[in-house]
Amino acid sequence: MAELSLIQAQRVVLLLAGASKGVTLYPEAHPAVAQPLREICTIVGEALREKPAVRLGILDGVLFLEHHLFFTPTASVDELVEILTAREVRAVTFQRGLAPSELTEFVTLLSRRDLRGEALAAELARRGCAHVTVELEDLRQEEAEEEFDATATYRQAITVVSTLFGDIESGRIPSTEMLRGIVDRVADLTIREPSTLLGLAMIKDYDNYTFFHSVNVGILAMALGAALDMKKEELRELGMAGFLHDVGKTRVAKKILNKPGKLSPAEFEEMKRHAEDGARIIGEIEGVNPRVAQAVLGHHIGFDRTGYPPWALDLSFERSCDIIAVADCYDAITTLRVYKPPLNPREAVEMIRGLGGTQLDPDLVETFTGMLGRYPVGTLVRLDTNEIAVVFRPSSQGGERPVVKVVKDGLGRVLPSPVVKDLAREEGVGIVAVMDPALAAIDVSRYLE
Ligand SMILES: [Fe+2]
Ligand SMILES: [Fe+2]
Repeated sequence: MAELSLIQAQRVVLLLAGASKGVTLYPEAHPAVAQPLREICTIVGEALREKPAVRLGILDGVLFLEHHLFFTPTASVDELVEILTAREVRAVTFQRGLAPSELTEFVTLLSRRDLRGEALAAELARRGCAHVTVELEDLRQEEAEEEFDATATYRQAITVVSTLFGDIESGRIPSTEMLRGIVDRVADLTIREPSTLLGLAMIKDYDNYTFFHSVNVGILAMALGAALDMKKEELRELGMAGFLHDVGKTRVAKKILNKPGKLSPAEFEEMKRHAEDGARIIGEIEGVNPRVAQAVLGHHIGFDRTGYPPWALDLSFERSCDIIAVADCYDAITTLRVYKPPLNPREAVEMIRGLGGTQLDPDLVETFTGMLGRYPVGTLVRLDTNEIAVVFRPSSQGGERPVVKVVKDGLGRVLPSPVVKDLAREEGVGIVAVMDPALAAIDVSRYLE
């Protein structure tokens, strides 16, 4: 039988998703990994007796295996689309001669978050997997579109959050349809294009602090969730919790929210109520998962349980709560407020590290700071060409060579319009130093969009 039947195709997808998950939990020889791979080899091997290759991939967002298209999402289909997309793989071809060991190598490499695109293809070749070939996404062509898509989505998220807060403030019942739609889109982008969104999450707006802060926390939390391999449904919940985590501040007097100096004990007590007020407000909104309200209730509870509200200190909270706390802390300390100057990203990373184990979960801090990389977005740097640049996007290839916007040339002259350089693709140009934006008189935030 030459062609794979629909049932066989469905079986291969199910087994491949299972093995991809299994390999992150068990050694290769474990039955949870070895068994599905053996079965895939048998099914695909049978087809390969009659034809030279079997192809699996994604076309316009839909998973296909040979001529079978998987329009209906199932957990396995979603998982394969997620993992292939994250690894920048458009299709995989299994060729005649495929050995079980090659399939094992392929699934193992696919599970490695640090390998994608050309690096993944090179590693496959290096390990002698001659009968498994990956076709990569044409990133350069798609980058411009995705950049535009991400910026539009970011702006839309700000609008949705500000409308929702406005509704709540004026006693209207907010519609969650828009909110759910935007959270879904941001979750998709987080999986597909995490570095662009991470870059956008460093945009600040002094006058609309709450809305930008809420959206940024949602994005940072989703990015951290994705780095922890959380599933899309969990990412959606994280996004929702991030977007809404400070919704209780709609109940706090404006003069307290915007007070330039230190809050009095009574004012601080009122401010502290925003966590429980937020959870209550969310609990009243139709169609929002109660876990979102729970995460909001605990977003200031602290990893060491020294935060607030005091009556909730002994409750058990899920990890989403600690994730929101890390994202909240990073965005708050990198933002200028009436009562404090912002820290630059380098200093912020140091500070967050210092809070690991007390206020923040140390493991999450580790993953978060690892995700931001050595030169987080918003860092001002000097290149070895003597040019001054702002880190604009995390590295497209992982590692420590981010995308930068050059703002001053090698002679110290401000460029009329900044020039984007992807250091991962620029031979021989590297970062030599991190600079203080205040000393260099550069407003970094102007260059982040
Ligand atoms: Fe808060
Ligand atoms: Fe916050």
